[in-house]
Amino acid sequence: MTEQDQSTDSPELADLESVLYTQEQVQAKVTELAARLREDYRGRNLVLIGILKGGIPLLVDLSRKIGLPHQIDMIGAQSYRGTMGPVQEVRITKMLDLPIRGKDVVLVEDIYDTGNTLVKIKAMVETFEPRSLEICAFIYKHKERKQDMEIKYVGYEIEDVFVVGYGLDYDEFYRNLPCIGVLDPKIYSS
Ligand code: IMP
Ligand code: MG
Repeated sequence: MTEQDQSTDSPELADLESVLYTQEQVQAKVTELAARLREDYRGRNLVLIGILKGGIPLLVDLSRKIGLPHQIDMIGAQSYRGTMGPVQEVRITKMLDLPIRGKDVVLVEDIYDTGNTLVKIKAMVETFEPRSLEICAFIYKHKERKQDMEIKYVGYEIEDVFVVGYGLDYDEFYRNLPCIGVLDPKIYSS
């Protein structure tokens, strides 16, 4: 019996108000980001660090597409907020396994929203004295922020809407979607 790939007709797709970026567009953008990293990190000691859990799909896809020797690691952070409210506090839930001193590190994150999570993680990672430290965020939300940091590698820039898919969750669901979409407001208002 042949197993069928169910990713493009997941039942969760019915909960989206609209699809912002299809699976093909997402993958094409990851290919672009991987090509930029390939140019910038040739001959360097690259470590890609995914931020759990939203950064997992991008970390995996970048790692497969980059075509350069590199190491991967993950760092866990929990941002305390209501289901969708502003971040109150960021707690590190999983530390790095690899030594990164003197390495060229790229933090891989699903989305740059208020920036609170990344500011905390970046400061923590800096204490390990990598040679360089850059950030790759697949989605960059346009909004007014208290703190703005340089995000060198950005996939897509979007308005301030709540999106899910490709690692992004609502209540831990929808991370599996291969596309990125705007969640139907009736899902979180019911
Ligand atoms: P920040 O600290 O406000 O930048 O928030 C970062 C985290 O908030 C992300 O890693 C996501 O887990 C979550 N987040 C922010 N905006 C969205 C969204 O539109 N959809 C899903 N999760 C989001
Ligand atoms: Mg989340």
